[in-house]
Amino acid sequence: MTFTPNQAPRPTRRFFLQAGLAVPALGYLPAARAASPNGKFRTAHIGVGGMGGADLNSIASHAQVEVAALCDVDSDRLAAAGAKHTGARRFKDYREMLSELGDQVDGVVVSTPDHTHAPAAMTAMLQGKPVYCQKPLTHEVFEARQLRTVAKDKGLVTQMGIQVHSSAPYRRAVQMIQTGVIGPVSQVFAWSNKNWGYDGGPLTNFQSPPASLDWDLWLGTAAEREFVPSAYHPGNWRKMIDFGTGTLGDMGVHIFDTPYAALELTAPRWAMTTSRPPTHVGHPERNVVRYEFPGTKHTTDKLIWTWYDGNWAPPELDLDLPRDWGISSLQLPGQGALFVGEGGLMLLPHVGEPVLMPETKFSGAARPEVANGNHYHEWVDACRGEGKTSAGFDYAGPLTEALLLGVVANRFPDQRLMWDADDLRVTNLAAANELLRSTYREGFAVAGL
Ligand SMILES: NC(=O)c1ccc[n+]([C@@H]2O[C@H](COP(=O)([O-])OP(=O)(O)OC[C@H]3O[C@@H](n4cnc5c(N)ncnc54)[C@H](O)[C@@H]3O)[C@@H](O)[C@H]2O)c1
Repeated sequence: MTFTPNQAPRPTRRFFLQAGLAVPALGYLPAARAASPNGKFRTAHIGVGGMGGADLNSIASHAQVEVAALCDVDSDRLAAAGAKHTGARRFKDYREMLSELGDQVDGVVVSTPDHTHAPAAMTAMLQGKPVYCQKPLTHEVFEARQLRTVAKDKGLVTQMGIQVHSSAPYRRAVQMIQTGVIGPVSQVFAWSNKNWGYDGGPLTNFQSPPASLDWDLWLGTAAEREFVPSAYHPGNWRKMIDFGTGTLGDMGVHIFDTPYAALELTAPRWAMTTSRPPTHVGHPERNVVRYEFPGTKHTTDKLIWTWYDGNWAPPELDLDLPRDWGISSLQLPGQGALFVGEGGLMLLPHVGEPVLMPETKFSGAARPEVANGNHYHEWVDACRGEGKTSAGFDYAGPLTEALLLGVVANRFPDQRLMWDADDLRVTNLAAANELLRSTYREGFAVAGL
């Protein structure tokens, strides 16, 4: 396989916002928050079925939280969540909810399908609200850059929903890598045996949406189309290019998080996917994505990251390990990451304790004591002025941009996409730049996106 860039660089316009020019005025003003009468932190939740239900429970478990409002485009799901939070106002359109409640809300939780993360989060942020947003931060690279920029410009407390980021095993793995236990890391392999892809052709089984679902609002910013049962709502939208980000965006963001944080990676130099030819309908069911990152103080002069997904993962890894390590085979879990250092290996199952290899070499290695954090409460506390979040959009933005570059790359199999993060553009394949952002449907425009 060769990695030759196949097209000459072509300049594209700079998308991203300059400091101080963050958002054109569109009638949204940062809301001066009226203190809640009981001193509680009042939350509004967008998407309350599926993971949104779990997010709602976890946020509501904070003693200082009052669930003020619930929003879902599926009335059955809204009713189920509402039955548990009887004091909360109910809405089906988040724009109406945020506009009507204004300063009666202190923070917003976004747990919708991926394509609605950015429009919902940005709408809240433009009103000056702190946001907890599910992963991956956005559906598109451009959106990730914009959320991060606006959060920074407005000084908002943010957190991306990668709750395992705060778990003791992942925190321990970060510390161990950063103390140099396996030496400079040259490669990371990561994989998920989940299959959030769809290799079939265009969908044709059109039917009326269920009575409980407002299909137009579910589509939101995406182009209009007819409803197909079991293809989109709930959950399966992940497989479709217009709504989800495939297994790489879905699971990769969890599994890549620890290497990204531990190695203090920045923007990749390039990404390249090996997968079937694009169908323009679904994400590939089987993907290999390779990235090169510039070296950091925890790596060799560059870091190669290779991702495998689909039912065939974990793959046989072709590793050239020193003979005296005595490692002849590796037992890999269904999902996880393997750090390859100059002095050893670290296997990080998803989700589990880091394992150092060769075992004989590391039998006495120190394992730092770290506490399990509560990722959700960390956000609430930070919003209330106590501590900081660990996966704010300053961190989640670049992590998501890197992952989404791989998602774009799977539309151009076997082509290395050379990446200029400063200019937010692929320098050698103009067609790839067209996929960094999409046009929002008329009536769903959001300032800054
Ligand atoms: N952090 C994790 O471990 C984890 C696990 C699962 C899912 N997720 C993330 O959570 C998000 C939701 O995934 P899911 O599996 O729950 O999907 P889902 O389709 O099961 O649920 C999405 C919910 O959002 C509602 N919704 C859709 N569009 C909406 C809109 N415009 N306004 C209000 N509500 C809307 C749906 O009706 C539904 O209740 C995704 O971003 C996914 O990546 C994260």
